Amino acid sequence: MRFCLSSSGSRLSPYAAVLIAARVVTCQPLVGHDGIFSLDISKTALGASIEHDPSFVSFSFEPAFWVEFFGNSTSPNKLAFDLLGCIVDHGGQPTIRPGGITMDSMIFNVSAGDPVRTTNPKGGVYRTTVGPAYYESWSNFPEGTKFVSTLNFGNDSLDIARDLAVASIKYASNDSISFFELGNEPTNYPSSRWMNNTKAYVQQWKSWTAQIDAAVNMTLGADAAVEFGSERWWASSATTDQTGLEVLPDALIPAGIDSKNQVADYSIHSYPFSTCDPARAVLATTQNILNQTELARYADEDIYPSAKAAMDAGSRWIIGEFNSISCSGNPNVSDTFAQALWVIQSELIYAVRNASAVYLHQGAALVFQSSQQVNSAGQNGSPGYSTYDMFYPRESEKRGPARVLPSFSSQLFMAEAFAIPNTRVRLVETPSGIDKDYFSAYAFYVNDKLNKLAIINSKPYYANSTSDFTVTLDISKYGHSKKETRAWLKRLSAPHVNEGNANKTTWAGQSYSQGHATGDLLVEAIGRDGLVHVRDSEAVLVFFDKRDANMDAC
Ligand SMILES: *[C@@H]1O[C@H](CO)[C@@H](O)[C@H](O)[C@H]1NC(C)=O
Ligand SMILES: *[C@@H]1O[C@H](CO)[C@@H](O)[C@H](O)[C@H]1NC(C)=O
Ligand SMILES: *[C@@H]1O[C@H](CO)[C@@H](O)[C@H](O)[C@H]1NC(C)=O
Ligand SMILES: *[C@@H]1O[C@H](CO)[C@@H](O)[C@H](O)[C@H]1NC(C)=O
Ligand SMILES: *[C@@H]1O[C@H](CO)[C@@H](O)[C@H](O)[C@H]1NC(C)=O
Ligand SMILES: *[C@@H]1O[C@H](CO)[C@@H](O)[C@H](O)[C@H]1NC(C)=O
Ligand SMILES: *[C@@H]1O[C@H](CO)[C@@H](O)[C@H](O)[C@H]1NC(C)=O
Ligand SMILES: *[C@@H]1O[C@H](CO)[C@@H](O)[C@H](O)[C@H]1NC(C)=O
Ligand SMILES: *[C@@H]1O[C@H](CO)[C@@H](O)[C@H](O)[C@H]1NC(C)=O
Ligand SMILES: *[C@@H]1O[C@H](CO)[C@@H](O)[C@H](O)[C@H]1NC(C)=O
Ligand SMILES: *[C@@H]1O[C@H](CO)[C@@H](O)[C@H](O)[C@H]1NC(C)=O
Repeated sequence: MRFCLSSSGSRLSPYAAVLIAARVVTCQPLVGHDGIFSLDISKTALGASIEHDPSFVSFSFEPAFWVEFFGNSTSPNKLAFDLLGCIVDHGGQPTIRPGGITMDSMIFNVSAGDPVRTTNPKGGVYRTTVGPAYYESWSNFPEGTKFVSTLNFGNDSLDIARDLAVASIKYASNDSISFFELGNEPTNYPSSRWMNNTKAYVQQWKSWTAQIDAAVNMTLGADAAVEFGSERWWASSATTDQTGLEVLPDALIPAGIDSKNQVADYSIHSYPFSTCDPARAVLATTQNILNQTELARYADEDIYPSAKAAMDAGSRWIIGEFNSISCSGNPNVSDTFAQALWVIQSELIYAVRNASAVYLHQGAALVFQSSQQVNSAGQNGSPGYSTYDMFYPRESEKRGPARVLPSFSSQLFMAEAFAIPNTRVRLVETPSGIDKDYFSAYAFYVNDKLNKLAIINSKPYYANSTSDFTVTLDISKYGHSKKETRAWLKRLSAPHVNEGNANKTTWAGQSYSQGHATGDLLVEAIGRDGLVHVRDSEAVLVFFDKRDANMDAC
């Protein structure tokens, strides 16, 4: 038997539960158990990643759908802000990038109000018009939230880009803007714009950013401009697709993009899978998106060379926009619990490769993006929310009721993982005998001491699976050696990998389908034997300091 939280206190439990109100936990037969593995974890942070902050896990939201996601300053979308508040209560501090393809047709008009889309009957977005109310609505976000002010490069109009920058400084609350970004994925612009010439792109980018800096400095006033500093721009914002125009950091840096010290972060977009066309859609399966070997291969081959170029130049790099499956996800894959596991795997892959932040993208199908894509907008061009979103912000013809999706729970896992400022992280080697394609473990360090451990068993577990292949790990070498309890553990779980209902997805025993915790908090105690069991399609976060495990629920 396993997971038997015996109320009689008999010998069964591999670990006991603490902090639970009386509750029955079903015991399941242990099948597919093939031994106990030990993890070899370095006790000091030597050689681990750079220091990460609670803002490591951030978000990008497609600006054309701003009102659907967030409402306006007087009528905020309660579900969205409850969820963001919940992430903050669990220790997260996400920066918000209202960015994506539609920022490249966004215009500011001082007479306009909330963002309004101009679309064709199929929902194709030609333009998004924003007024002061757009920036004013940013003050609804949790206190201290920082923003990226994104500017339209697509229309090739300096006036449009500069007006957006100046308006954001004027109407958003003071000090809420951390960065500017000029253009999204310039690799997808018509190639006649720069004739595939990196230098031509760099020249226009530098000329415009200098003129926008001058206008922004004027609006800020001298003191605030100095405080903002000169390094305020994201550069690149390119995808990993091979295109005629090379503007990833490894091409931009030698071309002199930062000769005026304006770049704060080099931003790279990461989408390892796609439903933009039928050939790629067949690969966007649960089995593939959870394959750790493939996710690491994509990160190392397609992302890391540019990341390294940025770090070699002494700069920060970020994943400025990412999700699992481009062109709005794959229904029955990215809207299930599989996406929760994918988010954790991917964010940790980039954390150990020293990204300074990762911005998970949320939005809706964009019909101009591809004529062969799997997803579409709803009737009369109404939003077809992306199936990789962590929640559907409104009721819609295409996706049904407003609701939380199973992947939201992974945000609480990650918020707690990086809740302590200056946390460093490293990959722990997968013990031989465990399937490397579907397993990963990471050690977290605070003040050079082992503080947490994340273990992800991403092998797909279905209702028809004949075995749950629970992995049992012995961590008795770590944690408290003199106490009954060596460490504490929170578990991310769902009945099966393809679970689509957030009501059945739990983080530490609680579900968050209404934007707040339902059920009793379940923090498991790891006993003297140091054994940790992780079922297929589960992830656990081990806490070596009990105080860190007792996060307030929201
Ligand atoms: C905010 O949204 C509400 C609900 O849609 C609407 O009634 C109100 O007019 C909007 N307020 C502003 C200032 O646009
Ligand atoms: C700004 O909006 C006003 C009111 O809707 C409109 O009359 C004006 O033409 C707009 N300005 C531009 C530059 O589009
Ligand atoms: C910006 O460019 C888009 C796409 O080319 C076009 O549809 C739109 O009308 C342009 N907007 C303005 C204000 O020029
Ligand atoms: C923002 O800063 C300006 C100039 O320093 C000041 O006048 C204004 O009151 C500040 N606004 C807020 C909301 O604090
Ligand atoms: C804007 O202000 C910053 C900080 O004072 C300064 O470093 C930068 O050179 C200024 N840029 C322009 C174009 O005035
Ligand atoms: C840019 O490169 C792409 C891919 O090689 C090519 O299809 C396109 O024709 C080129 N555009 C120009 C203007 O040379
Ligand atoms: C996982 O991905 C790797 C690299 O792409 C591949 O070689 C391997 O066959 C995949 N494993 C499974 C089980 O699909
Ligand atoms: C998703 O799964 C449901 C239930 O199994 C099925 O009815 C639906 O057709 C599937 N949708 C797609 C797009 O495959
Ligand atoms: C990340 O940064 C650490 C600390 O500077 C360094 O030791 C490590 O080699 C870097 N890792 C990668 C993959 O760049
Ligand atoms: C098990 O269920 C999954 C998801 O419904 C399905 O894709 C798979 O083909 C099934 N496997 C078998 C062996 O029936
Ligand atoms: C989840 O549970 C709540 C409360 O019982 C219910 O209102 C909601 O419809 C459920 N959601 C789903 C997707 O089943």
